[in-house]
Amino acid sequence: MYILNQQTSHDYVAASAQTSAMIQQWLDAESLYQGGAPAALQDKLTLNISKTGRDIDMVLGDIAQQFLPNCVSTAHPHCAAHLHPPTLWVGQVAEMIIAATNQSMDSWNQSPAATYIEKELIQWLGAQCGFNSSTKTEPKAGGVFTSGGTQSNLMGLLLARNRFYGALGVDVQKDGLAGQPLGRILCSEQAHFSVEKNAALLGLGQRSVVKIATDRTGAMDMAHLEDTIDRFGAQNIMAVVATAGTTDLGAIDPLESIAEVCQAAGIWLHVDAAWGGALLLSERYRDMLAGIARADSITLDFHKHFFLPISCGAFLVKDAENFASIRLHSDYLNPSDDETDDIPNLVTYSLQTTRRFDALKLAMALDVLGTDAYGALIDAGLDNAKDIAQRLDSDPDFVLVRPPILSSVLFYFAPQNSEFSAESLAKINRHIAQNLLINNQANIATTQYDGHLCLKFTLLNPDSTLAAMNPVIAQIAALGHAYLVRDFK
Ligand SMILES: Cc1ncc(COP(=O)(O)O)c(C=O)c1O
Repeated sequence: MYILNQQTSHDYVAASAQTSAMIQQWLDAESLYQGGAPAALQDKLTLNISKTGRDIDMVLGDIAQQFLPNCVSTAHPHCAAHLHPPTLWVGQVAEMIIAATNQSMDSWNQSPAATYIEKELIQWLGAQCGFNSSTKTEPKAGGVFTSGGTQSNLMGLLLARNRFYGALGVDVQKDGLAGQPLGRILCSEQAHFSVEKNAALLGLGQRSVVKIATDRTGAMDMAHLEDTIDRFGAQNIMAVVATAGTTDLGAIDPLESIAEVCQAAGIWLHVDAAWGGALLLSERYRDMLAGIARADSITLDFHKHFFLPISCGAFLVKDAENFASIRLHSDYLNPSDDETDDIPNLVTYSLQTTRRFDALKLAMALDVLGTDAYGALIDAGLDNAKDIAQRLDSDPDFVLVRPPILSSVLFYFAPQNSEFSAESLAKINRHIAQNLLINNQANIATTQYDGHLCLKFTLLNPDSTLAAMNPVIAQIAALGHAYLVRDFK
């Protein structure tokens, strides 16, 4: 009665139809978020767990009333806080298939067709990055789907760590790091905080991460990188992490130049392209990723600017032989005999054991949209950001922090000729961002840049055009002025 199978398939279809209709109603309401302030929302939510259970109609009724209105709707054009996009409907359809078939990517006998689809897609992605998919002359690229950017960055640093200590004759996987010299990780001061988190997880400690200064665009400063390598000695650098699309500014580190330096010094180069990797599909902006092919490993993240439902990411490595350092066979799942028999068990390449078939979302999205339409959706975000930045720059109520690079716009409310301290402006701008969401008007982020608390639009939604965002900009100014009248006059 409860297990999904032949006998219950009609219940599943009926409940799915009911659920789809409910989601349609939620989308049609075009509401951003109705939950109000955090404490008020917490008080409204209850779990219903009983001995006897409830009918699905009642449960769905509660979801419609209690959960959906209090979600933040990523479909809304005013939902522009984070790298948290509206999703492609084909991605949602793929989710139904992923969930219903419940394949597990760890072993071939739990995901026979899915394993080959994922492998093929990894090779396609590698080719888009300029990696090699043939074994003939150069190393063959490899990779695996991941839960997202953090895990992909962890894998890049894990393989870099194993190669670095391997060259010192140490098998870290078996013997750990005790007593070993500290390998340094270099990344820009704008790199994602998962670099430090991952350094800690890898037993290197957050202090192994050395931050390289950035230029005015937020990209890694080459002179400082080279000086830092000289200062520590190239033989002591475990990896350089370059970012293609920093989280706030969308800055892209100079990949060619960094690759040149890393290659000459024999340093592993990982490119965190969690955001900027989407430009691989862009006809117009793809050149911004020039040099990515020279990376040793790459992070791609499809639940960001590829518009796929969470979670969906990939880790790519130029030479799949590097996976040998994490190969661990278990008798029940990926026995070494399977390798002899050419049976691929992807657990050998993953940090996860049980793993979803998230690759299907990307495979189906590419199939339905084609790369042209997909690329155009990505381009729209970059174009909208330029229009909106120009609008803000010409408005005396705002300071535009930097011209946009990808599709984020950093700015803050600071009426011209008013002389507020950075601290007072921070208070005002924080108040603005919080009130927009609580009042169901917009979801925008705050972040720090150059000593200022900034407001941030992250414009992934192609519908977040200048026309769509103009009322939000007007509301920001109205909230800002009202706050000034209330608290500063
Ligand atoms: C540049 C960058 N790298 C990595 C990540 C982490 O990705 P995820 O949230 O998928 O783990 C993010 C998240 O915003 C990011 O912006």
